[in-house]
Amino acid sequence: MIILAIETSCDETSVAIIEGKGKSENPSFKILSNVVLSQVKIHKNWGGVVPMMAKREHSKNLIAILEKSLRKSSFLISRSEFLISKQIQNSKLRIINKILEREPELLQQFLKFIPTIKPPKIDAIAVTIGPGLEPALWVGINFARALASVWDKPIVAVNHMEGHMVAVLLQNGGISNFQFPISKQITKSNFKNKKQIKFPALALLVSGGHTELVLIKKWGDYKIIGETRDDAAGECFDKTARMLELPYPGGPQIAKQAENFKKYPLAFRMGGWVRREMEKEAFNIKLPRPMIDSKDYDFSFSGLKTAVLYMLRDMKERHINIGDFTPMICNEIQQAIVDVLITKTIKAAKEFSAKSIILGGGVAANHELRAQMKKAVLMSRRDLDIRGQTTALYLPSAKLTTDNAAMIGAAGYLHAASGDFAKSEKMEAQGNLSL
Ligand code: KG4
Ligand code: ZN
Repeated sequence: MIILAIETSCDETSVAIIEGKGKSENPSFKILSNVVLSQVKIHKNWGGVVPMMAKREHSKNLIAILEKSLRKSSFLISRSEFLISKQIQNSKLRIINKILEREPELLQQFLKFIPTIKPPKIDAIAVTIGPGLEPALWVGINFARALASVWDKPIVAVNHMEGHMVAVLLQNGGISNFQFPISKQITKSNFKNKKQIKFPALALLVSGGHTELVLIKKWGDYKIIGETRDDAAGECFDKTARMLELPYPGGPQIAKQAENFKKYPLAFRMGGWVRREMEKEAFNIKLPRPMIDSKDYDFSFSGLKTAVLYMLRDMKERHINIGDFTPMICNEIQQAIVDVLITKTIKAAKEFSAKSIILGGGVAANHELRAQMKKAVLMSRRDLDIRGQTTALYLPSAKLTTDNAAMIGAAGYLHAASGDFAKSEKMEAQGNLSL
């Protein structure tokens, strides 16, 4: 089954085409194309994503991204080859005008481009309906509805977080399965994830807006066992980075600074004065690990953010050049977040006898989180082992952890394979949609 997927929930415009095979218990996938256009440069000046600007950019770029995605997957070899003079039938034209009435720029480009191409041989269109920024989500939804209407294809409504959760299915199954040597997992087929993920699985989903621990009994059967009570992990990275005058998005910036600190510890780099200051323990920076010992699986990162704020205020009052300490502070922020995420995940994996642990969401691109999670799973191996079955850790490649449409296609396939399609006219953006 071939799925064309659309993702516009935040500041990435993405269209992907994927092929899915197999039952929803053990699907395998091939990415035919996964084109992602980031709007980071546009939002950077505002220090975060501006919803109406995100909407406008999606509207402006979707047709070009679709064209690129079709071309990459060889569904569109040359536009002129397939040039069909046939116009969209009047009845359909009316429907499309109505669907895209709030996106005039997209409508104009749509009517210019779509009639000139041969309808691609896809089986369904998957689109993110939430959670995310509603104005941004609407553009993707309406685009999907308009395409489904001209091409007569069914639509699948996808939860963005389910996309993050299944991103791992899109690549060589079980990147860090400690039970088998890696070579055994590589199959000759182009289809990825031949190796079945065992259930119950536990997913740690960490993105800009969400921090969730999800117990997966099987694909489609999810239970959130813990989530953030305030800021998400990614949000904490982004907000503390902003306090340190680092550009948006903060996660990769903090990670870069922290790596710098690890390579060149401040005391050696800065010489006498800083070393003396450190010796006085004035800046033996230690930030809190909120809720790390709480009995539940919930998270809270706003306290960490506030602790950074107070620390920086205190440093400023003492006329200390914060820039000198930025790598050190970043390292501590990152470590505080990583510590909490790992502790809770391992604890939950033990309690729920998880056979697989899956990471997903933008923060899962974080190198330290990945490396330390691997270590933690290895160290807890004895406790995690369930009747000789070693718990496997599944990490999507960094490219698949951040927002992209291929993951939406994978989740879309799971629904399409079990006949779960949406009614086009009833679809709507759901900013706070839960799993
Ligand atoms: O999943 P995602 O691309 O978008 C949302 O659905 O929110 O996640 C974006 C978040 C941002 O907060 C960004 O700072 C964070 O992921 N992020 C990272 C890294 N790369 C992206 N956080 C820490 N380390 C990274 N390397
Ligand atoms: Zn996301």
